[in-house]
Amino acid sequence: MGDRRSAEPWAMAGRAVLVTGATSGIGRATALALHAAGATVLMHARTPERAADVVATVAANGGPRPVPVSGDLGSLAGVHALAAHVQEVAPGGLHVLVNNAGGAFAQRGFSPDGVERTLAVNHIAVAALTRVLLGALRDGAAASGRPSRVVNVSSSLERRGNPHLVDWSYPGRFSQFQAYCDAKLINLAYSYALAAEWADIGVTVNSADPGSVATSFGRNSGGVFRMFQSLGRPLLATPEKGARTSIRLAADPTLDSETGGYYRAGRPRTSSAVSRDPAFWERVRRRTAEVLGTPAP
Ligand SMILES: NC(=O)c1ccc[n+]([C@@H]2O[C@H](COP(=O)([O-])OP(=O)(O)OC[C@H]3O[C@@H](n4cnc5c(N)ncnc54)[C@H](OP(=O)(O)O)[C@@H]3O)[C@@H](O)[C@H]2O)c1
Repeated sequence: MGDRRSAEPWAMAGRAVLVTGATSGIGRATALALHAAGATVLMHARTPERAADVVATVAANGGPRPVPVSGDLGSLAGVHALAAHVQEVAPGGLHVLVNNAGGAFAQRGFSPDGVERTLAVNHIAVAALTRVLLGALRDGAAASGRPSRVVNVSSSLERRGNPHLVDWSYPGRFSQFQAYCDAKLINLAYSYALAAEWADIGVTVNSADPGSVATSFGRNSGGVFRMFQSLGRPLLATPEKGARTSIRLAADPTLDSETGGYYRAGRPRTSSAVSRDPAFWERVRRRTAEVLGTPAP
């Protein structure tokens, strides 16, 4: 059960919100709080069965009926399946997209699109889903007369990302930890670039660093993250606390026009110098466009 109080001061009635990775951890806590605040929450899971299960537990709380949506974010095909599902169940558009799903992999492996899996889930899926849902976000903004919001769940580990990474397939030695840091750095830089690109179209883009949170991340990811989550458990924040920054970025009306920010513990922070470097954004945008098969910026 999530913290039903977290978003109560922020009325979300009439807002359609998609939370990816809503089955556990920070995503589940975010979805629960936004649902408690009155939003119609599209709760995403990898499979239809898991989405239906998670929706059933939340629907029991009353309020607007949450909507199950699904798709495996490990491939572009899965992203497109999810986007089609969202467009079908939210014909009036989307007001908030919380790109929360993420993971790490103990072994090197590839998505069907030829990208190392950590980059595929934590960055390529986020970039693809956000771009495909731009029309829905713009429709939501037009209908509500307020900007729609994209919230990308980042990590302070972006600071450990390698700004010189060229080959996103990791042809040499593979490190789970490094690949995760790289993916979060790349996604943060992309988020800043997207905020700049979309500055005038009524869609904001901000990033949330949840802190160190006790979730299923270690169990799902294995390797060094399993060790961190099990040894560090007593020191880690609850998912409800970790979700607060995402919730604020999704719901606080005073942030309606804020874009291109990076927040931790609910407040704006300064991320690494390289993440804020427009020359790095440009490299990330070009490589991302190649993988997405969209025209280079
Ligand atoms: N926990 C931390 O300390 C921490 C710190 C900084 C940032 N973060 C970020 O916070 C976000 C949430 O992580 P969490 O800690 O809450 O972990 P979690 O409990 O493992 O939740 C991750 C969610 O993402 C989903 N997911 C992962 N890969 C997917 C895929 N290929 N397709 C569809 N769904 C997928 C998972 O679904 P399944 O259950 O089906 O796998 C799950 O719902 C991630 O972006 C993570 O990088 C976490």
